[in-house]
Amino acid sequence: MKMKWMLILLLGTLAETTLGWKYHRSEITMNWTQARQWCQSNHTDMVVIQNQAENDYLVSWLPTKKKSPYYWIGITKNHMNEPWTWIGNNSTWIGEQSWAQNEPNNNHITEFCVEIYVNNGINRGKWNDEKCATPKYPVCYEAQCKATSCDRGRCQEIIDNITCLCEPGFKGDRCQTAVECPPLSQPDNGYLSCSREKLTFNSTCRFKCYPGFLIKGSQDVTCGITGVWSGPRPSCTSYKQALLAVAGCAAFSACCICFCWMKRRKRKKLAQVRQPEEATSPSTEAQG
Ligand SMILES: *[C@@H]1O[C@H](CO)[C@@H](O)[C@H](O)[C@H]1NC(C)=O
Ligand SMILES: *[C@@H]1O[C@H](CO)[C@@H](O)[C@H](O)[C@H]1NC(C)=O
Ligand SMILES: *[C@@H]1O[C@H](CO)[C@@H](O)[C@H](O)[C@H]1NC(C)=O
Ligand SMILES: *[C@@H]1O[C@H](CO)[C@@H](O)[C@H](O)[C@H]1NC(C)=O
Ligand SMILES: *[C@@H]1O[C@H](CO)[C@@H](O)[C@H](O)[C@H]1NC(C)=O
Repeated sequence: MKMKWMLILLLGTLAETTLGWKYHRSEITMNWTQARQWCQSNHTDMVVIQNQAENDYLVSWLPTKKKSPYYWIGITKNHMNEPWTWIGNNSTWIGEQSWAQNEPNNNHITEFCVEIYVNNGINRGKWNDEKCATPKYPVCYEAQCKATSCDRGRCQEIIDNITCLCEPGFKGDRCQTAVECPPLSQPDNGYLSCSREKLTFNSTCRFKCYPGFLIKGSQDVTCGITGVWSGPRPSCTSYKQALLAVAGCAAFSACCICFCWMKRRKRKKLAQVRQPEEATSPSTEAQG
């Protein structure tokens, strides 16, 4: 992997390119439409600039020219009242100091294309609006991001840098590695079985206890997208212990029932003892 990057870096230097976009130019002048077509058929498209650093880099890469014609860049508009728009993704980025002084001046109300100055004066690296029919040199870019650049992510290139932005659950420089949860150990007096050999996200593990043991806690855990298990590891408790606990409770309940029953019987007996007295007393009164 390291060797590969070293090689890319080395080749990149020789070919005057960066890790991100590769720039290309022609030394044949063309109108803007032809220039763009040349870029599209030989490379990716006409150059797109999205910040000052890219502008500076491009200017440092282009050969200095004493006078016009300079280079076409991929920003244009169709009508006077439209905003300047970059080709490709409709971005309308324009830096604070991108235009040359007094530009865009729309000289003939038909200047809908833009050139970049690469002379040695104060305007070096600045933009100028021009008639699209004027012949100038094309400057193009070639995207380094390929459909296969990132396994499970989106490839993003900027100047000097190409990065894979990974989808959730994946990592690595090419998003090639699924996120994994830490290994789980067998519970005491039980075992576990997992849906996959590698504990990558979405895999589930099920805990089971040996005969004679009862599970305490959730039986299943799932590996989350951030590499964390969905819950704690359950434990296995001895069935005897559980049984004793149950038995103890049952015995206690039985005692309670027993006690109540005995109390009730005692009360009943007392009532029965009292009853004959009550029954006999009127008769004794009658007798007496
Ligand atoms: C750019 O804007 C035009 C006109 O609004 C639209 O037709 C086109 O699909 C847009 N392109 C992108 C890449 O968004
Ligand atoms: C347009 O594309 C450029 C180059 O790929 C990128 O840097 C920029 O962020 C994009 N802008 C928008 C608004 O999508
Ligand atoms: C560019 O040149 C081509 C071929 O000569 C021509 O058909 C086209 O109209 C020109 N476009 C502009 C905007 O001048
Ligand atoms: C490339 O860009 C990414 C994110 O934009 C950043 O994390 C990374 O450090 C950059 N790499 C280099 C070599 O500059
Ligand atoms: C993970 O599980 C979710 C929900 O069940 C599913 O939508 C997603 O496709 C799964 N991802 C992988 C990589 O298996």
